[in-house]
Amino acid sequence: MEQSTYIMVKPDAVARGLVGRIVARFEDAGLKIERMQHGLVTAEEAAANYAEHEGKPFYDGLISYITSGPVVKMVLSGPGAVAVCRKLMGATNPCEAAPGTIRGDYGLVLDANIVHGSDSPESAEREIAIFFGD
Ligand code: RTP
Ligand code: MG
Repeated sequence: MEQSTYIMVKPDAVARGLVGRIVARFEDAGLKIERMQHGLVTAEEAAANYAEHEGKPFYDGLISYITSGPVVKMVLSGPGAVAVCRKLMGATNPCEAAPGTIRGDYGLVLDANIVHGSDSPESAEREIAIFFGD
C-alpha cells in the first residue's frame, strides 16, 4: 500500500554531520523523497508534533531539544512507508535499538535519538500538515 510518512533528522544528528548517511538508509530501502527541507522547528510546530506527550516529565526537555538547532524535515513515500521507516529507525531508546538500525548505529541516549518518524498513518497525515501544510 503506497503511503507517506513524516521523517525528521533531529538536531544532534544534523550537528554531527550524519544527514547524508541517515537519508541514505531510507533511500537504500527504496523509499522516495517527496519533500525535504533544512531549518529550525518553531515552538508551535514542536508543540503540535509532540502534543501527545504534553504534561509528561520529559516534555519540556523534548521541546527545547527539538527546537535547539536545525533539523532536516522530510516526507518519504513507498509501500508501507510508516512501518518500514519505524523499522529502519529502531527502538526509541538507542541503547535498546538493534545494530543495523539508525538509532542503534548512531545514537546512545534517549534524549537525543537521531531521528523522528510518524508512528501511524494518522500521525503521518497530521505531521505532514504541520511541517509541509502549504
Ligand atoms: P519520535 O516521536 O521522536 O519519533 O520517537 P518515538 O515515537 O520513538 O518515541 P515517543 O514515545 O513518541 O517519544 C518522543 C521522544 O521523547 C523522548 N522520550 N523520552 N524520558 C523518557 O521516558 C522519554 N520517553 C520518550 C525521546 O527522545 C523520544 O524520541
Ligand atoms: Mg513518537
